[in-house]
Amino acid sequence: MTDDVRKPTTMDSGAPVESDEHSLTVGPGGPILLQDAYLIEQMAQFNRERIPERQPHAKGSGAFGHFEVTNDVSAYTKAALFQPGITTDLVIRFSTVAGERGSPDTWRDPRGFAVKFYTSEGNYDMVGNNTPVFFVKDPMKFQHFIRSQKRRADNNLRDHDMQWDFWTLSPESAHQVTWLMGDRGIPRTWRHMNGYTSHTYMWINASGERFWVKYHFKTDQGIEFFTQHEADQMAAADTDYHTRDLFEHIRDGDYPSWTLYVQVMPYEDAAGYRFNPFDLTKVWPHGDYPLIEVGRMTLDRNPTDNHAEIEQAAFQPNNFVPGIGPSPDRMLLARLFSYADAHRYRIGGNYQQLPVNAPVVEVNTYSKDGAMAFRKTTDPVYAPNSKGGPAADTERYGSPPSWYADGEITRAAYVSHAEDDDWGQAGTMVREVMDDEARDRLVDNVVGHLLNGVTEPVLERAFQYWSNIDAKIGDRIRQGVQDKADEKDPKRDEQGNPARSSMQRKA
Ligand code: NDP
Ligand code: HEM
Repeated sequence: MTDDVRKPTTMDSGAPVESDEHSLTVGPGGPILLQDAYLIEQMAQFNRERIPERQPHAKGSGAFGHFEVTNDVSAYTKAALFQPGITTDLVIRFSTVAGERGSPDTWRDPRGFAVKFYTSEGNYDMVGNNTPVFFVKDPMKFQHFIRSQKRRADNNLRDHDMQWDFWTLSPESAHQVTWLMGDRGIPRTWRHMNGYTSHTYMWINASGERFWVKYHFKTDQGIEFFTQHEADQMAAADTDYHTRDLFEHIRDGDYPSWTLYVQVMPYEDAAGYRFNPFDLTKVWPHGDYPLIEVGRMTLDRNPTDNHAEIEQAAFQPNNFVPGIGPSPDRMLLARLFSYADAHRYRIGGNYQQLPVNAPVVEVNTYSKDGAMAFRKTTDPVYAPNSKGGPAADTERYGSPPSWYADGEITRAAYVSHAEDDDWGQAGTMVREVMDDEARDRLVDNVVGHLLNGVTEPVLERAFQYWSNIDAKIGDRIRQGVQDKADEKDPKRDEQGNPARSSMQRKA
C-alpha cells in the first residue's frame, strides 16, 4: 500500500489519532499527561495481550482445511459429516504436550492432533494425539503425570528423574513410553506424522445399531522422524521448526493431507475381547479389526491472525454430533468435562461465540449473557415456553448414545480381559514392529535419557521396567547406561556408579 492510500490510524473507538510517535506532553521537555487517551489505550491493551497458555499442549499452531468422504461408512454411523459425498470445513491445531508456549517444537514428546469439524449438525471435535495409546488409564493420574513432565518446584527445571519416577511407578505407561522413546517420539514435521483418537468412541447408524470405533489419520506425506541428535540440533537452530514448516508448505500451495481410517468393533464384541477395548494404554491389533477407509483431510489455508484463530481455538472432546458418542473409557469421560472448563478459564465463558469456535449452523440456545456476549439473546429466555422459543426435537434426537452400566459405586481398576497386562503390547512393538536399527535407536534414546539426571532408586526401577517390556532390550539399556557412565567418569565406578551398583545387585 503506498503512503497516499494508507488508512489513518484510529483509536479502538474508531476516532483518528494525532500521532503514532509522540506522547502528549507539557512542552517538549515536560511530563506526559493522563489525558493522552491513545497512549493509555496502547499501554493498557498491550498489558492484556496474553491469555493464559493451555496447561498442557501450550506450544502449537494450526491451519484450516476440509475433510471429504471417500468411502461409504453409513453402515456404521449416521453422522452427516461421514456420509458419502460430504465435504466439511475444519480447523486443526498441532502441539507438543509438556513445553511452554516458547518451547522448541522438536523436543521428544507426543504431539497433539486436534480437529474441529464445522459440520451441518454442529461442531464435532476430535481431540487426539499422534499416538494410538496414552501413559495412564485413569483420569485421577493425568494431572500428576503432566506435572511430572513439566517443571520442578525448587529449581523450575524439567527433570528426567521425576519423569522416570512417575513412569516406573505407573507400569501402565510402558506402551506409550516405548512409543515415545522410539522413532515416532520426534516427528520430522507435523506433516509427517499420523493422528489417532487413541480412545474408543461409539458410532451409531441410522437404524440405531451401535459400534465401537478408533480413528487413524494416516499421513499421506509418509512417516518421517528426527533422531535425537537431529532434533537437538534443530531445537537450537529453529525453535519453531514445525510451526514454520506447516505455514510455509501451505503458503506455497503444497497442501498436506491425511487419509482417515477407522477400526470398527461390533458392540457385542467388547465384553469378550482379549484386551479391554476401553483401556487407553492398548491398541486393537489390525489383524483383529482391520482399517476401513473413511475419507481425506487436506489443509489448505493458513491463519491470518494466529491469536484469534489458533490460540483462541477451543477444542473439546464433548463436542459430539448425532451418530457419534463416547465410550466407557474413563479417561475420555473425564475429558468430556475438563476441556470446556479449561476454555472458560483460559478464554472466557463465551468462548464459543468467537468466530473460530462458532458453528456454521444456527445456534438456538438458552445460554445467555456473561462477559463479552455478542450473540443477541431474544425472548423467551426459558424453556419450556409457549412463546415460540426453541424446543428439543426428542423424536429425532431423543436417544443418547448409551451402554448398559450397573454396579456398586467403587474406586477400582478396570476389569481385566484375558490378555490385559502392562508390558505385552509394548514388547510386541519392540520385537515385531521395530527393526534392528529402530531398536538400536530406542536403546540409545533411553540410555541418553536415563543418563541425564536419573538417580537411584529410580534408575534401578527403570532397568527393571525395560526388562519387563523385553529382556534383551532391558539388558542392553542397563549395559548402555553403565558403559556410558564409566566412559564419562571412570573413577565413578569405585565411588559408586549407580548403573554399576545396579548391575552388581542384579548379579
Ligand atoms: P501391525 O503390524 O498391523 O501394525 C503395526 C503398527 O505400528 C502400524 O500401524 C505402524 O504404523 C506402527 N509403527 C511402525 N513403526 C512404529 C514405531 N517405530 N513406533 C510406533 N508405531 C510404529 O501390528 P498390530 O496392529 O498387531 O500392532 C502391533 C503393535 O504395533 C502394537 O502392539 C502396537 O505397539 C503397535 N501399533 C499398533 C497400532 C494399532 O492400532 N494396531 C497403531 C500403532 C502402533 P504405520 O502403518 O502408520 O507405519
Ligand atoms: C489439551 C486435559 C488426556 C489431547 C488439554 C488441556 C486440558 C487437557 C485441560 C488444555 C485445553 C485448553 O486449555 O485449550 C486432559 C485430561 C486428560 C487428557 C484431563 C485425561 C484425563 C488427553 C488425551 C489426549 C489429549 C488422552 C489424546 C488422545 C489433547 C490435545 C490438547 C489437549 C490435542 C490440545 C488441544 C489444542 O490444540 O487446543 N488436555 N487431557 N489429552 N489435550 Fe488433553
